[in-house]
Amino acid sequence: MGIYLGINIDHIATIRQVRGTNYPSLVEAALLCEKSGADSITLHLREDRRHIQDADVEILRDKLTTKMNLEMAATDEMITIASKIKPQYCCLVPEKREELTTEGGLNVTSQISKMRDICIQLKMSNIIVSLFIDAQKDQIDAAKQCGADVVELHTGHYANATNETQLTELEKIKIMATYASSIGLQVNAGHGLTLGNTTNIAKLAEIVELNIGHSIISRAVFVGLRTAIQEMKNLMINARQ
Ligand code: PXP
Repeated sequence: MGIYLGINIDHIATIRQVRGTNYPSLVEAALLCEKSGADSITLHLREDRRHIQDADVEILRDKLTTKMNLEMAATDEMITIASKIKPQYCCLVPEKREELTTEGGLNVTSQISKMRDICIQLKMSNIIVSLFIDAQKDQIDAAKQCGADVVELHTGHYANATNETQLTELEKIKIMATYASSIGLQVNAGHGLTLGNTTNIAKLAEIVELNIGHSIISRAVFVGLRTAIQEMKNLMINARQ
């Protein structure tokens, strides 16, 4: 089975926001990502609006030719925005104001009834709901119980680990990807993936899509966005052969 690449464009917005300019254009970037092999475009509308802005989500919803995956916290404000904009996918993530990036998966087990209500609300707007969780059986079971369609397994611990610990993290992701898929959840994965650590994750046959941002945007500084995306996509496809 094939494997899809979702490109997270948050950090193209970061470059714009640090100087308060109207460039680089997110629309131009997203369309170039799509032309270069992105299967979907991910953007995280954070509560503090540090990179993606409300207007970006609105404009991109119109312009994207693939799919929009809107990452957001499980708050009333975000549910209202998503229900209005209707991206094809919403990925619910935990969010802390002081963090540099999403630090771990959602704790779904501790808030099943809240998450179930949110899944119902989003699905009423025809949005496919994904929950960003750590590779743990109890979290996967809770996601299923809430009616989520997709789980995105957090690869950050794997990405940050080295040697034996990294192999242990990989094994957890492998076992949990198989389990989640066996109970009917689509399995995506992402966070901290680079050209150096993605092959082992892309090899896992149950994983449908990888969402990758920071390393690709960083690599684009040297080789351009088109090449950076093509390099990653080729690596993922080769891993499956
Ligand atoms: N998936 C989720 C749920 C995320 O929160 C992020 C970071 O915004 C990513 C994937 C992409 O992570 P990275 O930028 O490290 O590739």
